[in-house]
Amino acid sequence: MGRASKLARHAPTHGVGELGELRPTYAAGPHITHSDRGKKEWTTKPRLVYERPVKRCRTRWTVLAGIVLVVAAIIPLLPYIEMRYFYRNPGQSAREQLNPWRRKLMRPQRVVEAMRLQPGMTVLDLGSGYGFFTFLLAQAVGNGGRVFATDCTPDAAKSLASQASQMGVKNVTPVVVQQCGLDAFYKTHTFDAVLACDVVAYLGDAAEQRAFLSELGRSLKPNGRLWVLTNRLDADFDVTEFEDWSVTTEALRSPGAQSLLAKRLRPQVRAALAAGPSALAAESCRRLLVEDLNRLLEDSTFWPEITREFQPPESYLNPRYEPPRRYLLRKLEQTEGFTWTSQKVPERARPLLRLLNRLVIQDLLETVVFEKAFHLDQYEMKNWQYMSDGLLRLSETVPLIEKAGYQLVQEHKILTSHLICEFRHTPH
Ligand SMILES: C[S@@+](CC[C@H](N)C(=O)[O-])C[C@H]1O[C@@H](n2cnc3c(N)ncnc32)[C@H](O)[C@@H]1O
Repeated sequence: MGRASKLARHAPTHGVGELGELRPTYAAGPHITHSDRGKKEWTTKPRLVYERPVKRCRTRWTVLAGIVLVVAAIIPLLPYIEMRYFYRNPGQSAREQLNPWRRKLMRPQRVVEAMRLQPGMTVLDLGSGYGFFTFLLAQAVGNGGRVFATDCTPDAAKSLASQASQMGVKNVTPVVVQQCGLDAFYKTHTFDAVLACDVVAYLGDAAEQRAFLSELGRSLKPNGRLWVLTNRLDADFDVTEFEDWSVTTEALRSPGAQSLLAKRLRPQVRAALAAGPSALAAESCRRLLVEDLNRLLEDSTFWPEITREFQPPESYLNPRYEPPRRYLLRKLEQTEGFTWTSQKVPERARPLLRLLNRLVIQDLLETVVFEKAFHLDQYEMKNWQYMSDGLLRLSETVPLIEKAGYQLVQEHKILTSHLICEFRHTPH
């Protein structure tokens, strides 16, 4: 039974006022009614129904308009909300930091050897994370030495403590520090060496980074050293990435790579690739191939050729990388002095061009080595923009540290993936 007819039946006992907004009215047209004997039958007599006045309809429109207004007001705030609440700096999880690929590409043992640590020294592993370097540093300074591993993530400190107890390592002290500004811990300790791997960028904006490093300098012992390692997204290719020669030859035979990459390689490499995956060819050619690909990283004619040959570029390139490609292309075109036709690339455009070409070459080769190394997921791909902006600041890293009261002792060319700089403290 409908609500209106229910009300109609009870109308005589209700005052209209008690029915709230409902108004009694007579509706025409055939409808089912109940006879005196309670039987259902059709009738065309006007029936008494209670209707909500048109106001209800108006209320609905008002609510809808309100929702539209709220949504319209939120839309401009979305980038801020995303940045504030959803943006996660890549590289902060144990999965990313302790990835076996990262270990292979970054050769942490070689970096620690370059630090020339002596038994008994005290070392600070600044922003140690889950211990990518910590235990190698601990080994280098021996039982008489000490490694303080600071991180603002309690989870990282907890993991270090449990790893240390499992391995029976006694000279590692995990310390949870505040994220903003120099924690009191640093002011009460002194260090022979400080290692900051992929961490300076996390210390705030340029002014905050400078202030942090400047104050930290007071905790370096007279002959102490600051080691700064900064990730290079536009890194040269490394032979490690082409270790599996059969995968390499197969990748270079894929249609996209064939038409664009293979013809840019020197004849010797092309012949070796044609010969197939023989171990001998691999040995002699891997290095030459890497040299050729690295030269291509700074070739500004590469992208125009792709757009000429691939119509649309997505016919061979992964659409997944379209947003970073578009971002890099836009940035390149906005860089003063950069044109696709000139041979000379302005200094500021170089990292962008290298990054674009690297992305495209990886894509053509389907090596996705970068993805493999860092397990970039769909979400992190969205962060590419922030990562590329960070890349542009890479060239400013050394001047920034110098302004914080340090002098560059040496840039160590151990890795292609990282800028490795050794500094001494020279307060003004
Ligand atoms: C990219 S990870 C690098 C971790 C480690 N150094 C490595 O190379 O594997 C950066 C680390 O710095 C930490 N971090 C960020 N801001 C920090 C701060 N103000 N003080 C100490 N650690 C910080 C993060 O929690 C994260 O573990």
